[in-house]
Amino acid sequence: MSGINPYIETPEAILPQSNYKIRFLPENVTVEVGHDQLIEASEGQLGSILDIAEKNGLNIDHSCGGVCACSTCHVIVREGLESCNEASEDEDDMLELAPGLCLESRLACQCIPDGTQDIVVEIPGWNRNLVKEVH
Ligand code: FES
Repeated sequence: MSGINPYIETPEAILPQSNYKIRFLPENVTVEVGHDQLIEASEGQLGSILDIAEKNGLNIDHSCGGVCACSTCHVIVREGLESCNEASEDEDDMLELAPGLCLESRLACQCIPDGTQDIVVEIPGWNRNLVKEVH
């Protein structure tokens, strides 16, 4: 399921101008994000952590289909958070419902790195069993 939530504003974000990498923990899987992956969103906002994960065969739980209407896609951006768009009020409202919230918490479907640096993203423990590589 994916689509658009008509009740929230599309987050403001700058899409990357050059390639960068996202390392997913604890699996320690690194993916390179290139322009060819930023044409059409699979799930969540175009260029979001969820979108990139899905395009690289990594499954992050996303019950609402990436439209900022749940908190199941909660991730922790361990490095490079400053290169990501600011969380909107809608994202913050949903994040408050997420277990294990911390200062680096974001919704993977709304968090869009600008590509100025590589980032490290931790998938929280309650979501880990769902992380798998699809071949
Ligand atoms: S998938 Fe529901 S808020 Fe991100």
